[in-house]
Amino acid sequence: MPAVSQSARHALAATPEFGRDLLTCLSEQPHTIAPKYFYDATGSRLFDRICGLPEYYPTRTELSIFRQHLEHMAALIGPRAEVIEFGAGSLLKARLLLDALEAPFGFVAIDISGEHLTAACSALRRDYPALEIEAVVADFTHPEQLPLRRSSRSRRVGFFPGSTIGNFSPHQACRFLCAAARLLKGGGLLIGVDLVKDPALLHAAYNDTAGVTAAFNRNLLLRANRELGCDFRTEDFQHYAFYHPLRQRIEMHLVSATTQEISLGGRCFRFAPGESIHTEDSYKYTVDGFHTLATACGFRPIATWCDADNLFSIHWLESTCPQE
Ligand code: AVI
Repeated sequence: MPAVSQSARHALAATPEFGRDLLTCLSEQPHTIAPKYFYDATGSRLFDRICGLPEYYPTRTELSIFRQHLEHMAALIGPRAEVIEFGAGSLLKARLLLDALEAPFGFVAIDISGEHLTAACSALRRDYPALEIEAVVADFTHPEQLPLRRSSRSRRVGFFPGSTIGNFSPHQACRFLCAAARLLKGGGLLIGVDLVKDPALLHAAYNDTAGVTAAFNRNLLLRANRELGCDFRTEDFQHYAFYHPLRQRIEMHLVSATTQEISLGGRCFRFAPGESIHTEDSYKYTVDGFHTLATACGFRPIATWCDADNLFSIHWLESTCPQE
């Protein structure tokens, strides 16, 4: 192995977790990296654009379900909720929820993308001056590690819209839900979950004609170039997304179009034509399948709302974890 250069060392030290995980990804076969690395400031902006695309049905469908059933959701959640949003994006859905809730106690937004989160929370503070709002820059996929204070005057309500749970493997989803059920004991979780459907609709949603999803996917490589001093030629990697019906998931890849070499941390990695980096899975659930998972992980499904075409679902789950 060649010696690691000083500048490469500095680059890896600047973003240690990303550098370490990308090194593992490039060293191992198949090449796989966690989708959380999509979301630097550029990736978060690209994701916001995806949410507005005509082919990307989840965001607008979930919003329409929210708008239609907010009163019922708020009634089930009850007063003095401390809303904890896992992976806060633009906070548009959080605003709808906060407006509908009776005397919300506070709002905690947790996101890995600090810049994006700070901007979204500042805007929220301007519009909700009486509400206690906290921005926590952290990896929300590990709820047990979050630095949250518990108040005896409120009831914790997790908010996890957007079907981000779909980006977890079944094992990660189970681990997340188990930890969330413990964190939310005495309260519950309002969660959006994308549903199994016609593969043609799914294919279109992840292969939009404007190429925004492709840019979002390739931004991972641009981010590695910016932050880790890599030399990915992004035009030599093709965006490839397809639905795997047996696994009930969209798989997203970046496939090398040529023979090429990439350097990271002083090491060199050769890619053959057709060799892929697996960048994301997006699991789709049936309502029954999701209820079974949630129940096994410490939640009781209380209510489920879907759109008329059964594209998307929102669930109110109560934690069954005992309160000390
Ligand atoms: C954030 N997450 C739920 C999106 C999804 O649909 O899996 C991320 C995404 N990837 C490509 N398009 C959108």
